[in-house]
Amino acid sequence: MKRFDKPILVTRPYLPDLEEVKKGCDEIWENQWLTNNGPMLKKFQKALSEYLCVPETNMALFNNGTLALELGYYAMGLSGGDVITTPFTFVATSHALKRIGATPIFADIDPETLCLDPAKAEKLITPRTKAIVPVHVYGNACDVDGFERLGEKYGVKIIYDAAHAFGVKPLVVCGDMSMYSFHPTKLFHSCEGGLLVFKDETVQEKLFELRNFAIRSEMECVDVGSNAKMNELQALMGLECLKKIDCLLDYRQKIYMAYKEVFDGCDSVKLIDKSCNKAYVPVLLKDFVARERVYTELQEKCNVFSRRYFYPLLTDFAPYVYGQRCCPIAEDLASRVLALPTYYGLPIEDVKSIAENVLEIVG
Ligand SMILES: Cc1ncc(COP(=O)(O)O)c(C=O)c1O
Repeated sequence: MKRFDKPILVTRPYLPDLEEVKKGCDEIWENQWLTNNGPMLKKFQKALSEYLCVPETNMALFNNGTLALELGYYAMGLSGGDVITTPFTFVATSHALKRIGATPIFADIDPETLCLDPAKAEKLITPRTKAIVPVHVYGNACDVDGFERLGEKYGVKIIYDAAHAFGVKPLVVCGDMSMYSFHPTKLFHSCEGGLLVFKDETVQEKLFELRNFAIRSEMECVDVGSNAKMNELQALMGLECLKKIDCLLDYRQKIYMAYKEVFDGCDSVKLIDKSCNKAYVPVLLKDFVARERVYTELQEKCNVFSRRYFYPLLTDFAPYVYGQRCCPIAEDLASRVLALPTYYGLPIEDVKSIAENVLEIVG
C-alpha cells in the first residue's frame, strides 16, 4: 500500500497566478475602494453574467454562500413557513432556513442521484409549505422537471442549493432561485463568496438592500438586513479563478476518469457516477463498517484524508433531530459514502495510488 510523504487532503484551494492577482491589487489600491459595490465587484458580476449566460439583473453576489441562502430565502418570503428539503447536505442549507424563522421538513433522497426525490417531497406538501429546497449534491443534477411540476401544481417556490454545481450551465436557470457557494473547497471560488441567480429580476433590489443592512438611503433603513457584501479582494480572486474555469473543470474530469478506471467493475467500491461537473468523487462502500475502515486506514496507513460527506445526516444534529428516521435511503447512503481527494493539480498517478489503496483496504 502506498503511503504518501505529505498528507493528501480531500481538497485544496486553487490559487491563481500571483502576478495577475498583484496587478488586480494595484487596481484596487488605485481605486481606493475595498467594499460596498465597488468596481472590481461590478467587473466580477459582468464576467459571471457572460460565463453563465444570465443577465446581470438576475444575479446578486454575497460574501458567502450561507448568507446568500439566508437572504435569498428571506427575500422569497419563506419566513414563518415550512420548507421541504433534504437531510443529505451540508448544514448551511437548513441553518439558513432556521435563521429566518422557516421550518425545514425533511424528505428522502433518490438513491441514484442522492438528491431530494420530488415524489417523496410531494407527499409532505401541506398548506404551510412555502417552498422546496433541493440540493444538487456533489454536482449531481436534481430532477428539475419533477420539481418544476411541483412548483406549478402547488404554487410553492423552488429554490436550489447549487453550492456544488458551478459550471453546470443547464442548471443555472431552473427553479425560482439558485445559490452557488464560492468557498475555497469548491471547484470555483472567490476566497469566500456566494451567488444568487433568480428568475424574477424585481428581487434584485431587495437582495441588494438586504446584503447592506437594508439601508436604502442615508435616511432610510427599510428592513432587518445583514452585512453580506462581497468585498473587492474577493471579487478579484473570483475574476482570476474564472479565467481558469475550463482548466479547473477539465482537470476534475481527468481525476474522475482515473478513479473510474481503477474502480470499474468492482462490487465493493461503487463510484457515484452522476456528477455533471465532477466537483467531488463520492464512492459507496458495502456497509458502515467498510466505510469506517477505509476512512481510518487511508489516514493512518496512507496519509490520505478523505471525508465522510454527508455524514452524519442533518437529522442527526441537535437542531434537526425531530426529522430522525424519516429518510431511510439517506440514512443508509450516509453510512456508506466517502468523498475521495480531488483538486486541481493532484497528480493523476497519486489518484491511481489512492484508488488502489482503497481497493486493497476493502480486500
Ligand atoms: C450544500 C452546501 N450548501 C451551502 C454551503 C455554504 O456555503 P458557504 O461555505 O459559501 O457559506 C455549502 C458549503 O460550504 C454547501 O456544501
